[in-house]
Amino acid sequence: MEEMELLQEKVKLEPIKSEMELIQERIRSESMESKMELLKEKMKLESMESKMELLKEKIKLEIMESDYAENIIVFGEGKENAKICMIGEAPGGEEEKQGKPFVGRAGKILWDFLEMTGLKREQIYITNVVKFRPTDRSKTGRIINRIPKKAEIDFFLPYLTEELMIVQPDIIVTLGNVPLKAVTEEESATIGAMHGAMTTTKQGYQLFPLYHPASIIYNSGLAQTYQNDLQVLKQYL
Ligand code: URA
Repeated sequence: MEEMELLQEKVKLEPIKSEMELIQERIRSESMESKMELLKEKMKLESMESKMELLKEKIKLEIMESDYAENIIVFGEGKENAKICMIGEAPGGEEEKQGKPFVGRAGKILWDFLEMTGLKREQIYITNVVKFRPTDRSKTGRIINRIPKKAEIDFFLPYLTEELMIVQPDIIVTLGNVPLKAVTEEESATIGAMHGAMTTTKQGYQLFPLYHPASIIYNSGLAQTYQNDLQVLKQYL
């Protein structure tokens, strides 16, 4: 009898494999194609937070199969359901090294401005259109940043759309021309004409375009414009 009770206890304590664990096991053993199917299945079961982790897994898997397999990927960062989603162009050298967006020179300018305006990091999710560092060789052979190519932007745009659907920000803030054109899907959109004013995207997001913080390095006159624009943005929070 005692043995029977012990057995019953053991059965109760035995971890029952969850649906999620079973999917996880299958993902590890399956081919690339079925991996994607299983990831989709898993995504349906997951919470908001882990949807982002799954999206990252999906991006990694698809990049491995693409022409961009050699690149180091830098994902977005910040609180999901953040009020603001800031979108840059692509990571630079420092971002690639640290694996985080906007941690280099442009990032320092951006965070300093945000602090001055009273905006807190916790209110912001930050990412880039292109998730790897686009590079060229200078005449002297140095590796330098370059503007992302259209093919690179087109490759990453569907992932940005998914990222936005997960974050569900109140406002999208694009930093510079590349993310502005990508988010509006308007080649003719320019930061010079659209900065500092709220508009709505075709998908219904509120969009507030800002200059890219690096533009202040090359044109110090933009510092005041940047500050003014951020004050306008603050009124929407
Ligand atoms: N510039 C960008 O557009 N993104 C970064 O992450 C860093 C610099």
